[in-house]
Amino acid sequence: MKFKKIALILLPLGFLITSNAQNTSIIPEPFEMNVKKGTYTLPKNLVISAPAEAVDITNEMITTLSNISETKLSTTNSKGNISLTLNKDNDLGKEGYTLTINEKGISINASAPAGLFYGWQTLAQLMPSGIYKKNGASNVQLQYVQILDKPRFAWRGLMLDVSRHFFTKAEVKKYIDDMVRYKYNVLHFHLTDDQGWRIEIKSMPKLTEVGAWRPERKGKWANTKAPSLDEPKSYGGFYTHEDIKELVAYAKSKFVEIVPEIDVPGHSMAMLAAYPELSTVPTNNYTVNIGQEFIDWEGMNGHITARIENTLNPASEKVYTALDKVFGEVAALFPSNYIHMGGDECPKNNWEKSADVMDLMKRENLKNQQEVQSYFVKRVEKIINSKGKQLMGWDEILEGGLPGNAAVMSWRGMKGGIEAAKQNHKVVMSPNDYTYIDYYQGEVTAEGKVYQGLRLNRTYQFEPLPEGIDPSMILGGQANLWTEQVQTIRNAEYMTYPRALAVAESVWSPKEKKNWEKFVGKVEQHFEKLDAAEIKYSKSMYDAIVTTKLNTKGELLVSIAGEITGFTYFYSLDESLPDNYSNAYSNTFVLPEDVSILRVVGYRNGKQIGKMLSIPMESLKTRAKKVL
Ligand code: ACM
Repeated sequence: MKFKKIALILLPLGFLITSNAQNTSIIPEPFEMNVKKGTYTLPKNLVISAPAEAVDITNEMITTLSNISETKLSTTNSKGNISLTLNKDNDLGKEGYTLTINEKGISINASAPAGLFYGWQTLAQLMPSGIYKKNGASNVQLQYVQILDKPRFAWRGLMLDVSRHFFTKAEVKKYIDDMVRYKYNVLHFHLTDDQGWRIEIKSMPKLTEVGAWRPERKGKWANTKAPSLDEPKSYGGFYTHEDIKELVAYAKSKFVEIVPEIDVPGHSMAMLAAYPELSTVPTNNYTVNIGQEFIDWEGMNGHITARIENTLNPASEKVYTALDKVFGEVAALFPSNYIHMGGDECPKNNWEKSADVMDLMKRENLKNQQEVQSYFVKRVEKIINSKGKQLMGWDEILEGGLPGNAAVMSWRGMKGGIEAAKQNHKVVMSPNDYTYIDYYQGEVTAEGKVYQGLRLNRTYQFEPLPEGIDPSMILGGQANLWTEQVQTIRNAEYMTYPRALAVAESVWSPKEKKNWEKFVGKVEQHFEKLDAAEIKYSKSMYDAIVTTKLNTKGELLVSIAGEITGFTYFYSLDESLPDNYSNAYSNTFVLPEDVSILRVVGYRNGKQIGKMLSIPMESLKTRAKKVL
């Protein structure tokens, strides 16, 4: 009898969820969501009510919802059809919210404006894709839902490198607009590097007069030749103090904190182009790097070696005076508690030869170059602390000893983050093997090689909290978009999405709510939203994964797999363009020696989806690593 009762209750609910035609694809997956029976139709006279603190949110809602045709929007002080309320007496935290859609309308409840904002982002995702286009939606019906949502981590970051390629203020705002749809709340702004200094420092004007400009190159990064001395420095740009204030305020209106990074003591060639006296080799004729390689990554003892010096002199008081000015101005512009000092990939070959550094080592009893770097980091920490801020750095700052209350951003995997957390330092996890979204995301010969590959399904496995680590030490996680090979904002979007959707679930959703199959289904729905919002994204998840191996006879064996299920892959060996009447892949096969190009295409339900891959024999050979 008891069993029957349960079945009666459960069956209709299950039926409702699966038979539901309405869109409930929310990314990141909410903490708790109940889909209910029924739909609410937005009235033609749509009235919004919201507290005064939510004025920016209301304005964004009105802008978006005014795209629905034949709908008149207004606001009221009493309860609207869409009603936003602040109720401080709940335990949603400052970013949590509840969203209810029922026969009475839509209500979003939160304890702080950020929660209302995220409730609105969820509501926007429940709307048809067309709301991002003028008259793109009409007669909007929304599934009844009851959602209680709050983030797993406080730091949900994306890093944008504006040094290797410069992005305008408008482009950075667009990047912020897009990231907040997926509830990111930190924009880590990589403002300086060897290839450009991008922030005005009024007390050191040459940083941008000289350091922000270089000759232009259009093609492949690192393929490029050194510029001639008289070549015009036509490529670059920087943000003035006013630009930064505008960006910070814009980000704040969308509940995003901008965390600035000034990358020292390595990655400083643009600074040295402006002020060569800050180097251990001040006689060099420094220029802002245009992308030509200048570091030997496999140097002596595993240390990297600079063929052109790009580090600051850790023994020079001039350097600390300059950094006091730089961090002073940066601290005054950015309200964030953290200032990121970089600290990564610092070659020490010129430090080793420097009389200044040798004196410093004697004076301070420093045993090796790691300790010299640690001395530098500690001096920088004092400067940053003196400006009322806390230091954050890449995991190299662990080497030679971590200073006081510095936070660590772990990029060479999770190792540095784990080590720092054990030493009671706060950590942001951004491991390159899960969250480096500058890496190519599908077939290398189709995407273009950038360091290494990182597919969506790997990104989705990112787990910021390692087992056995005190959760209070892990601030959260971040995906990093380095822009060596990213010249335009459209390409920045392509590299960011959909992998940022995967990281969003890792940093917002409860771990147990993550589900790859479900996620992929949602991503496909969000492709429609990204299309409507004119955001570029990659469809590489549809493309075949082609691997090869050599057998003992020296023959090349080809295997084809899919990143997601439900596909049949068809291929040709004779350079013809395959379709679903070509060879259907079923098992590993021997590639005949006379093949010059393997072409592969994926079909699902009789329709071609994704790109046709055309992989030259050369690449098939190089990817064969193991002898069977
Ligand atoms: C880094 O990717 N060098 C932090």
